[in-house]
Amino acid sequence: MGPVLILLGPPGAGKGTQARMLEEDFGLVQLSTGDLLRAAVAAGTDAGKQAKAVMEAGQLVSDDIVLAILKDRMVQPDVAKGVILDGFPRTAVQAEALDELLADAGQKITAAISLEVDDEAMVARVSGRYTCAGCGEGYHDEFKQPAKAGVCDKCGGTAMKRRADDNAETVRERLTAYHDQTAPLITYYDDKGVLERLDAMGPIADIRQALGAIVQGVAA
Ligand code: AP5
Repeated sequence: MGPVLILLGPPGAGKGTQARMLEEDFGLVQLSTGDLLRAAVAAGTDAGKQAKAVMEAGQLVSDDIVLAILKDRMVQPDVAKGVILDGFPRTAVQAEALDELLADAGQKITAAISLEVDDEAMVARVSGRYTCAGCGEGYHDEFKQPAKAGVCDKCGGTAMKRRADDNAETVRERLTAYHDQTAPLITYYDDKGVLERLDAMGPIADIRQALGAIVQGVAA
């Protein structure tokens, strides 16, 4: 199996944006538990029904549900190319379960990259976000507009959508959940010697370049 990269960071840090770029630049596969959960909600599965209200309140979905969804995804053959975990793990229980899952497969974490940003800026980033309903490409009202207004650069689609949890009030709940339950994982990975820190307050293209240099350094 190829490299196992974790992108750590609060809502709006750019995990999804950069994970999609790493897919393009390095041929890796983005595994976003947020996307997997939103797909389960849209499909109306039992897990999706349980997750919906929790996500809309900005809280974390139970470890059991998230781990079941992640494990299902990790057995797909494309994962062999190497993965970028976007939004997972988010709790100590998830981090330990990931270690076990990888150990069972004779693998380990290549790097956990912490995208370091400012909370207040994240409220603006998340509130202005929208995505292409066709291919999922992400945009922002101010920071990342398509070349032609209303038309996706990637697939030419014209239907755009916004997430139910992308309002200022829910973003603050999500930031609290991040600081209480996920930020301690920075120390967890630092103690394992796999942590990389990246200032993620600059323009998207600059972060892509800096992140690419880190990935080349750890995964070459
Ligand atoms: P999830 O979908 O993972 O959302 P999140 O972590 O809150 O992260 P976001 O997707 O909001 O932000 P991002 O860092 O990907 O930023 P993006 O690149 O889009 O989780 C949603 C919910 O699902 C959770 O609240 C929870 O309920 C549940 N969940 C998911 N995983 C779970 C787990 N493991 N355990 C339990 N529950 C789980 O960028 C944001 C915007 O800013 C975009 O518009 C982008 O264009 C723009 N932008 C990006 N970078 C920059 C930049 N450098 N400068 C300016 N603008 C930028």
